[in-house]
Amino acid sequence: MAKSRSVFCCTECGTQQPRWLGRCPGCGAWDTLIEEPAVGEAPTTSLMMPAPDGTSGKAIPLADVDTDGAPRFPTGIAELDRVLGGGLVPGSVVLIGGEPGIGKSTLSLQLAAQIEQKAGRVLYVTGEESLEQVRLRAERLGEIPRSLMVLSETRVEALAGPWREHSPAVVVIDSIQTSRTERIESAAGSVSQVRECAALLSATAKNHGTALVLVGHVTKEGTLAGPRVLEHLVDVVLNFEGDRSTPFRLLRASKNRFGSTQEVGIFTMGEKGLSAVENPSELFLAERRPGSPGSCIVPVMEGTRPVLLEVQALVAPAGYGTARRTCVGIDDSRVALLLAVLDRHSEVDLLSSDVYVNVVGGVRVTEPAADLAVALAIASSRLDKALPTDVAACGEVGLGGEVRRVGRLDQRLREAGRLGFERVLVPSGVLAGAAQVDGAIGVEDIGQAVRWLFDHCVK
Ligand code: TYD
Ligand code: MG
Repeated sequence: MAKSRSVFCCTECGTQQPRWLGRCPGCGAWDTLIEEPAVGEAPTTSLMMPAPDGTSGKAIPLADVDTDGAPRFPTGIAELDRVLGGGLVPGSVVLIGGEPGIGKSTLSLQLAAQIEQKAGRVLYVTGEESLEQVRLRAERLGEIPRSLMVLSETRVEALAGPWREHSPAVVVIDSIQTSRTERIESAAGSVSQVRECAALLSATAKNHGTALVLVGHVTKEGTLAGPRVLEHLVDVVLNFEGDRSTPFRLLRASKNRFGSTQEVGIFTMGEKGLSAVENPSELFLAERRPGSPGSCIVPVMEGTRPVLLEVQALVAPAGYGTARRTCVGIDDSRVALLLAVLDRHSEVDLLSSDVYVNVVGGVRVTEPAADLAVALAIASSRLDKALPTDVAACGEVGLGGEVRRVGRLDQRLREAGRLGFERVLVPSGVLAGAAQVDGAIGVEDIGQAVRWLFDHCVK
């Protein structure tokens, strides 16, 4: 009898190694390799044998490929459709990833309800919660159709029967980490189980033209396989983000074979589940206290939509030892860079100060276009001078202190104007060609921006 071998799988990227290593050679992550029984590279077949449709194994000219053959059905949740690129594609696999408690089950149940009402049969498979819990959640959400088929099951082989019986248009699996297949011995949630289950389910979905929605947890511990292991197996990867202490939730696509990855869906989690946010800027600015130092508004682009966010900074004298720098919602190293630039190229002295930066609403800003606003918020707190209440700022800040151009300035200015921010500090470069841009005030460098703040601050 052959000796049973084991391999070491990376929980981040799925790379396999014959022996344990401290660092994964595939993705460079530390301490992510875990031991698993080796599985043969047997080709994955579907749970059910494919119906012979005569098309497989036959090449056809490109011109004969039917392009209307990819009909989508809208999910009925506008923000989700926006991110998906119009709706779910039959036979495709969508992975919804996010931290536990962020709202993945809520979103998938709402999606199941909408589709059941409008487009067709849905099979909702739960491996995490009992059927009673699903029912209670459904009642909380309201308007969940009674015909929605639910199944409490973790063995993927057991899905074949209900799948064939109901021929659903959509199957939701909550979650892929609790699914397991008999083909592999390792525990549910291990890299090989997750990968094999996903492969089996997606092959079945492709055979039947069913849209498959997989829910996956993102965890930092090595015990559960991260959805990154699945990224190459699925057609669409959606990430559900947000701070659990705030109601805002952002849904972004990090991969989409059927649409752009530029769009972002914005939701709030309320008493009755997730609802779309029509007017994100208003929501993010709702609790703002105008006229207080250390705050600056920035129009950032969330996908193709401009959204106004408030950046807050607090500069305090450093206590004992090294100064502290704490950032929430923005990259630490970006703020460190801006502090160095402010220190060098403006009159703001920050060397011996603690600096705290926060983006309001639990959102994460990754755009360099927020640089100028962050720098101004910090300067405003340090100098104890508040920006005028109708002023916003956007622009990237370079190491030489220069304020650099950003894209889609007209959209940003329009959104700012709509919410009463009549004046926006922008890179002077963008104004060079234009005769006049309403409300835009050009600044060349960070020193000039800080001087502007000094001259125009609220007394
Ligand atoms: P859930 O969908 O269970 O998260 P996940 O599947 O990603 O783990 O959502 C859990 C949180 O959402 C929980 O803290 C309760 C909250 N919630 C609401 O605020 N309103 C609601 O209507 C529902 C159903 C949940
Ligand atoms: Mg859940």
